[in-house]
Amino acid sequence: MTITTAQNPLREGLRFERLPDPCIMVIFGASGDLTHRKLIPALYNLAYDGLLPPGFSVVGYARRPYTDEEFRQEMRAAVERFSRRQPIDPDVWETFAQGLFYFAADFHDASAYPKLGELLERIDRDRGTVGNRIYYLATPPDAYETITQLLGENGLSRPNRPESWVRLIVEKPFGHDLESAIALNEHLLRYFREDQIYRIDHYLGKETVQNILALRFANGIFEPIWNRNYIDHVQITVAETIGIEGRGGYYDRAGALRDMVQNHMLQLLSVVAMEPPIAFEADPVRDEKVKALRAIRPIRPEEVNELTVRGQYGPGFIAGRPVPGYREEPRVAPNSLTETYVALKLFIDNWRWADVPFYLRTGKRLPRRVTEIAIQFKRVPHPLFKGMITAGVEPNWLIIRIQPDEGVSLNIAAKVPGPRIRLRTVTMGFLYGTSFLVPTPDAYERLLLDCMLGDSTLFTRRDETEAAWVPITQILRGWAEAPPPEFPNYDAGTWGPPEAEQFIARDGRRWRRP
Ligand code: BG6
Repeated sequence: MTITTAQNPLREGLRFERLPDPCIMVIFGASGDLTHRKLIPALYNLAYDGLLPPGFSVVGYARRPYTDEEFRQEMRAAVERFSRRQPIDPDVWETFAQGLFYFAADFHDASAYPKLGELLERIDRDRGTVGNRIYYLATPPDAYETITQLLGENGLSRPNRPESWVRLIVEKPFGHDLESAIALNEHLLRYFREDQIYRIDHYLGKETVQNILALRFANGIFEPIWNRNYIDHVQITVAETIGIEGRGGYYDRAGALRDMVQNHMLQLLSVVAMEPPIAFEADPVRDEKVKALRAIRPIRPEEVNELTVRGQYGPGFIAGRPVPGYREEPRVAPNSLTETYVALKLFIDNWRWADVPFYLRTGKRLPRRVTEIAIQFKRVPHPLFKGMITAGVEPNWLIIRIQPDEGVSLNIAAKVPGPRIRLRTVTMGFLYGTSFLVPTPDAYERLLLDCMLGDSTLFTRRDETEAAWVPITQILRGWAEAPPPEFPNYDAGTWGPPEAEQFIARDGRRWRRP
């Protein structure tokens, strides 16, 4: 049964569509995991929703010697496996697949780029894409510099006619510390202007992350209490049950701090902590986020043990099934010291947040997949109900659930019915699923569409990326100077190392069990 707007007024006005200019997206790394799992399924879903421009085309660039037809078949299999919409609509697929092309070459082969240019011009002529291009770097990061340089040297990084545009999407990891991120930015800016560069962090494309802005700035009641006078502390948790999914080669050099905290978690933090922007536009929003990131209190190497906890999982059980320890995963060093769990405490030194701790934790192979932001408010100043039965009453928590069970809830104390005053915590909440009755689009759908529309609000600007690397690089330096950790220190399927509990307990607080 389809529920109409009349039955659910929250759905009213939901269909708001903007159509981008016709364009070609060149995906470097078309045979890789990201293309299969995320990019092509997202583009197919945009096609299904009628949000792609006419003539929209994809050129998959990779080494394997595919024909266009073979590439189309492989992409179809990827959509069948990974799209949120099943089964595939044959008509939508047919139209979409006509715009899929394949270009077989090595990223480092300079002679390939003029030929790529010719292919793009042919598609422009055949499909009316009028010189508009998006280059998507879905390759290992060590290819970013060569690809952008060769695009630049072959005249492909600038529009070939006055009214067209050329954009570049850069995937994470964006550098491995502050110095390398600055160097990468400088390299990219030799060939592309900042307004052409879209640094992607897929967390910003999640509906629930954008909803933090709506919650904070479209409701009058939160902003007055969103500060150190009312908030005791903030906890940001990104827990995953998965391990490293065959990505040992990358992960063993990255670790949880670089893989999750530098980008996704600091983005969540900046959206929670930022001041109200003067407009919901790319620069005003990013100006405020970058100010929040820059206000993070510096971490001196000797403080790193007090402000962080590292963990690495050993063998254990996930959903009752045995799983190997991190050091037994393929392409992981048998004595690896890479962290798969990290907890940290950050302070934001400004008027709004002075001395309010932000506790962040993330880990692989934890018991549940959950991402949430939990804001604990201060206790009431005068305990009116002292001596009465208040067991189980907590200070108010506002929980922003990013995934799964997306929604927002507020815990409040309420009186249990009956003749005596007994209090319990109850929950007021809203869930996306039941409130809006529309499926949540994947983050990549939103971000790819925004890039086609030239809207960079949900992409990270150069200064933001570098500001986020500052505290991370300080922690990495501190860890490098500290004695090596004793790993593994938590079993797969548990909530991380016991030190993480002591870490927060020292401040008289505890982790919320999501
Ligand atoms: C990626 C990380 O950026 O984000 C992965 O490299 C992680 O290690 C993933 O699993 C988590 O994304 P999501 O959307 O599943 O929370």
